[in-house]
Amino acid sequence: MTSLKNDHQKIGPSTDIVHSGRHPHENHGFVNPPVYHASTIFFPSYEALKSRDVKYGYGRRGTPTMEALEEAVASLEGGYGSKICPSGLSAITTMLLSFLKAGDHLLVTDSTYRPTRSFCDHVLKDLGVETTYYDPMLGADIATLFKDNTKLVYTECPGSQTMEVQDIPAIVEAAHAKGILVSTDNTWSAGHYFKAFAHGCDISVQAGTKYIVGHSDAMLGTITVTEELWPTLDRYWQLIGSCAGPDDIYLGQRGLRTLDVRLERHMKNTIEIASWLQERDEVERVMYPALPSDPGHEIWKRDFSGASGLFSFVLKPVPEHAVAKFFNTLQFFGMGYSWGGYESLAVPFDPSSYRSATVWPHEGSGVRLHIGLEDVDDLKADLDGAFAAMTASA
Ligand SMILES: Cc1ncc(COP(=O)(O)O)c(C=O)c1O
Repeated sequence: MTSLKNDHQKIGPSTDIVHSGRHPHENHGFVNPPVYHASTIFFPSYEALKSRDVKYGYGRRGTPTMEALEEAVASLEGGYGSKICPSGLSAITTMLLSFLKAGDHLLVTDSTYRPTRSFCDHVLKDLGVETTYYDPMLGADIATLFKDNTKLVYTECPGSQTMEVQDIPAIVEAAHAKGILVSTDNTWSAGHYFKAFAHGCDISVQAGTKYIVGHSDAMLGTITVTEELWPTLDRYWQLIGSCAGPDDIYLGQRGLRTLDVRLERHMKNTIEIASWLQERDEVERVMYPALPSDPGHEIWKRDFSGASGLFSFVLKPVPEHAVAKFFNTLQFFGMGYSWGGYESLAVPFDPSSYRSATVWPHEGSGVRLHIGLEDVDDLKADLDGAFAAMTASA
């Protein structure tokens, strides 16, 4: 029930995205893998049922539909094997439950996606796992936080909302010197622009909900690991039972095939909008690693091959009713959570209430944008109108 391997390593990443996990000639020539809907799967005999010596025994434990996406994601990430979960958060929690046990210590970047933090602060705490949050800019100095029982360093790059770029190779070097595992939430790069395993990570998780699905119409998560960690992940994924539905998995496969061209356009539009925002009087600071002025730009340039469509900026302080006017005036930017679809999105944020290892220095409202595939001039005009309405009401 496992789909292991990366036999596409010698081809280009765009070719891999198009071909991995598809085997048309084993499927009557159909371009796309079929969608198997399953709970019950018949065993051919009493003996087979007793021995469970069959490739597929129960819908939750694996289907050809699941395997097709597992194979494609493992290839995309450059890892050994992948498991698919019903959401990004379930991929994160399944991964943490697979590799941590009572008495372990976990280091988590202060910039992590907030529900990851909540899981550590509540579920892992109750299970006897201690979490320490660290400054995402620590790099090799992460070693100062290691304890004898530190088991895993959890990274997310760039950080949720505030977009800090972590020096993952430096963290990996320090962690591996002590036998500590390193995981990354690789959702922002979609596994396409950051090759977690080539940079030494042991585990990569993604909210497939974002760029893999790519159309805001399904939720998925992926966990990819090294060969060494595969038996543990495979076992715990089975034990936890967090399997995704076949139609959502199919939407993930369908979305994946156009990942490269979508990301290219997200990046082009986002560089243009982020650069334009930098020049606006209403804006205090733009946080997007592809901008040369961004503090994470050099590390991003070294480790990433591109940038996606999610970034943030901080408004110069204005009263809250003016911030509301900004958001309520936007036409093409929808106000809603998640990201990675073809459409542009905007949400306010304020990390100051929940970060514990770093201090958020800004007074003005944070704005997180996802730049979609629209015409960039329309997006600029939309933002321009929202700034004008905000300023008029301030
Ligand atoms: C960086 C990151 N990781 C994980 C998740 C969780 O994904 P999902 O919403 O599919 O549970 C999100 C969702 O916004 C996210 O932004």
